[in-house]
Amino acid sequence: TGMFTYDPGFTSTASCDSGLTYIDGGEGVLLHRGYPIGQLAEQSSFMEVAYLLLNKELPNKDELDKFIWTITRHTMVHEQLATFFRGFRRDAHPMAIMCGAVGAMSAFYHDSTDITDPQQRMIASHRLIAKMPTIAAMAYKYSIGQPFLYPDNDLSYTGNFLRMTFGVPAEKYEVDPVVEKALDRIFILHADHEQNASTSTVRLAGSSGANPFACIAAGIACLWGPAHGGANEAALNMLREIGTPERIPEYIARAKNKDDPFRLMGFGHRVYKNYDPRATVMQQTVREVFKAMNVKDPVFDVALQLEEIALNDDYFVEKKLFPNVDFYSGVVLSAIGFPTAMFTALFALARTVGWVAQWNEMISDPAQKIGRPRQLYTGPTQRDYVPLDKR
Ligand code: CMC
Repeated sequence: TGMFTYDPGFTSTASCDSGLTYIDGGEGVLLHRGYPIGQLAEQSSFMEVAYLLLNKELPNKDELDKFIWTITRHTMVHEQLATFFRGFRRDAHPMAIMCGAVGAMSAFYHDSTDITDPQQRMIASHRLIAKMPTIAAMAYKYSIGQPFLYPDNDLSYTGNFLRMTFGVPAEKYEVDPVVEKALDRIFILHADHEQNASTSTVRLAGSSGANPFACIAAGIACLWGPAHGGANEAALNMLREIGTPERIPEYIARAKNKDDPFRLMGFGHRVYKNYDPRATVMQQTVREVFKAMNVKDPVFDVALQLEEIALNDDYFVEKKLFPNVDFYSGVVLSAIGFPTAMFTALFALARTVGWVAQWNEMISDPAQKIGRPRQLYTGPTQRDYVPLDKR
């Protein structure tokens, strides 16, 4: 069995070549096609970042307009998909609905599933990016018993999503530009993160030549877990449970206790052994949104103080545990009005860009092979079958 490298959790195995995203975990650096995440979050837009990840370069004005036009054209979902939603229980988790609805897309868009055709791959990618906000908003509307809203293509990608989520047919919905900008930035922060668990899942699923919509559904399933995208929901629930700064030490003590499975949600990262640069932008975004909306939430103070206490505690210092992207995102999403159950669905919406870009990169890579990890066998050696009456 000495033939294989044993690497549970793939902590030291590179599974592919990739030109999309660079992370220096020690320094806390994140670059998309070379551009620092801080600059993209400040100066770019989610549509521009999507174009960059898919097409390798930032678009010029014409290219961006055309890209936005294309995405906008694909925002509607097949009318029959609405019927599909009605099969879910009203109290279904939005991620359960997302898994199902996006998986079901594989049964609708047959003209974009020949993965050997780069053009069809691009159409599938555009469809996925365009329809995720519609599907996420539908998941929300379904849970609260309000009618689905059709996309309004006069709005921006993010503005349209806000309207489909919070608007009702009876009233004109005014998109708040501060909220729109903040959410667009949150989408940028989640767009891609090299070979994380859900992206690796999409690549592995896609490596067999599977239907692209089904592959993205696999990514959504993986993202749902609390160790990955589900951490934003878990982090806000934790902060609300802590409730007041006085109770922080109790939770810090629990996180440090080896016999307690509790972890500080939104803390720690496989790759970052320094501050997650996305958390820096996210914390700033909380301040901006609170100021513009004139809101306060005691949960933000709990988060800030928890961070400060943890960053001065030997346990977290030694293990190099810092806040990650999920630590502050819930605070701002909740201020915007999203229920906690929607947080991971928003992550999925944004990460779809990374998933399709990585999937395209993989399919067009001549070195691409089906993903097929090996194992170290630990079961019994060969033995003879024992008939039932002899057992
Ligand atoms: N609270 C307390 N202790 C922790 C934490 C935490 N949040 N994270 C890691 N540790 C400890 C862990 O107990 C282990 O200690 P020891 O070496 O004594 O056994 C050590 O730090 C290393 O942890 P690990 O689990 O071996 O590290 P990993 O790279 O396998 O896990 C992680 C990374 C993100 C899953 C983990 O840090 C974690 O569970 N964090 C909380 C969940 C979370 O915030 N996830 C979001 C990740 S970022 C974006 C995303 O994907 O959504």
